[in-house]
Amino acid sequence: MQIAIIIHSETGHTLAVAIKMQTKLIAAGHQVSLARIQARNDREVDEQKIEFINCPKLPIADAYIFGAPVRGFMLSPLMKAYLNQIDDLSKKPVICFLTQHFPFKWMGGNQAMKQFKALLLNKNAHIKNHHIFNWSAKKKREKQINVAIHQLAFS
Ligand SMILES: Cc1cc2nc3c(=O)[nH]c(=O)nc-3n(C[C@H](O)[C@H](O)[C@H](O)COP(=O)(O)O)c2cc1C
Repeated sequence: MQIAIIIHSETGHTLAVAIKMQTKLIAAGHQVSLARIQARNDREVDEQKIEFINCPKLPIADAYIFGAPVRGFMLSPLMKAYLNQIDDLSKKPVICFLTQHFPFKWMGGNQAMKQFKALLLNKNAHIKNHHIFNWSAKKKREKQINVAIHQLAFS
């Protein structure tokens, strides 16, 4: 299966999870690309003012993984802007995940995930699974990542 992972990651947390997912899926026999959305003004909150320096065209794939950080109790504006302009996902299987600093999902994660899923559903994604990783709670985070990696599969 061709799987495309597309992430926004400023400080590397989301990227670290994406690399673990890519490694697991490659070991399972899939072809997995990993692309990073980047902007000159990474902290810009106004979608219209984001200056992308890397805005990969949605790769042709059988399944997708999207990952992003929580920003101000919302999905990162870069991922939001990216998802608003991609092609239709045509009911393809999608997994989405968020990383957040705070130790509890209600501290921005749940709200951001609601927004993430709504944007994906708007593009006709078939959301197979979603995850939130609470970065500052190290033990909890490691457990969350292990569970997500263990569950990770597209069939
Ligand atoms: C502007 C800004 C706003 C943030 N808002 C939140 C928030 O509402 N809740 C939270 O838990 N973490 C928040 N964070 C922390 C990031 O979500 C967290 O560090 C994330 O793992 C960073 O991912 P990255 O390393 O892939 O960029 C915020 C970070 C920034 C820079």
